[in-house]
Amino acid sequence: MAKKLKVAILGVTGAVGQEFLELLKERKFPIEELRLLASGRSAGKEIEFMGKGYKVAEAKPDSFKGLDLVLSSAGGAISRELAPYIVKSGALMVDNTSAFRMDPEIPLVVPEVNPEDIARHKGIIANPNCSTIIALVPLWPIHKIAKIKRFVAATYQAASGAGAKAMEELQVQARDFLDGKKVTPKVLPHQIAFNVFSHNSKIGPDGYCEEETKMVKETKKIFHDHDIQIVATCVRVPVLRAHSEALFVETERPLSPEEAREILKKAPGVKVIDDREKNYFPMPLEATGQDDILVGRLRADATVKNGLAMFIAGDQIRKGAALNAIQIAELAFASQR
Ligand SMILES: NC(=O)c1ccc[n+]([C@@H]2O[C@H](COP(=O)([O-])OP(=O)(O)OC[C@H]3O[C@@H](n4cnc5c(N)ncnc54)[C@H](OP(=O)(O)O)[C@@H]3O)[C@@H](O)[C@H]2O)c1
Repeated sequence: MAKKLKVAILGVTGAVGQEFLELLKERKFPIEELRLLASGRSAGKEIEFMGKGYKVAEAKPDSFKGLDLVLSSAGGAISRELAPYIVKSGALMVDNTSAFRMDPEIPLVVPEVNPEDIARHKGIIANPNCSTIIALVPLWPIHKIAKIKRFVAATYQAASGAGAKAMEELQVQARDFLDGKKVTPKVLPHQIAFNVFSHNSKIGPDGYCEEETKMVKETKKIFHDHDIQIVATCVRVPVLRAHSEALFVETERPLSPEEAREILKKAPGVKVIDDREKNYFPMPLEATGQDDILVGRLRADATVKNGLAMFIAGDQIRKGAALNAIQIAELAFASQR
């Protein structure tokens, strides 16, 4: 990208917002002007970016005039409220919230899977749910070759998936627990330190939580495959950052673990870590700070026809949110070189 862009980060003080800044710097994103936006609580706060101090401003309808790009991660309600003003300003909104993901008019994109959908945007492109992105980066190359008919996912989701305050809560609770103090959950609904609980999103009438339903619906939209069957169990674990997932896949065409390993070794955005001898496989600690989704424990699932099992780990603030959004922006503006 040669053209320098006028960019705003909406939700800059949050977990995803901070990662946006890190990635813009790391990827040498061409910036002419940078506007940092959050709630009124953060207005006036100074944030350093590439040696320069920037003041955070409260996001308002008139905050977007003259911009080329808005990277938004301030929650669904704010995205819904401010999107009409962003679109009117002529800026492209790449939105990390769930506000527009299932809108048929709005592309939902994982650049390794459906980059062609970017071209049909009308001002907004939605970034998928983090657990969905992390699963689909390694599943897509398998789907293309052997067609996935069904997959079962069990997630092990880090505290950071619930934002910067939830990350802090895990650290505070761990300290309090070890000091023999009373642990009081404030951000997440249950004790997260030394515990595991069902994902904290709302449970629907069918018994599935919103996170599980997002994985089902978003996969069908991103893959452009409405026949693929998905069932998920989403769980929060006391990990600071990076989600892991156990995936059980059934393909139309038989695919051995060896063939799958070779396909995944060549797949963009994937790193195979599959050392049976050393019992060394993907771990969230190692996925932290990495762009790639780590994939391993590749083995046949003999309980179904053409079954394949794997375990993956990916940094959900990075590839599951900020990185995916920046990759979308890079592709969207690449044609304006
Ligand atoms: N964390 C993840 O792994 C992840 C992954 C994918 C998608 N997402 C989505 O990204 C969004 C942000 O997540 P996060 O984890 O970064 O949350 P977070 O750490 O809680 O940060 C929330 C951000 O939104 C801002 N905000 C809140 N209310 C606002 C308002 N009324 N006006 C303007 N800004 C407001 C906050 O500003 P203040 O500091 O001023 O309150 C903060 O910058 C959510 O929709 C989340 O679902 C998160």
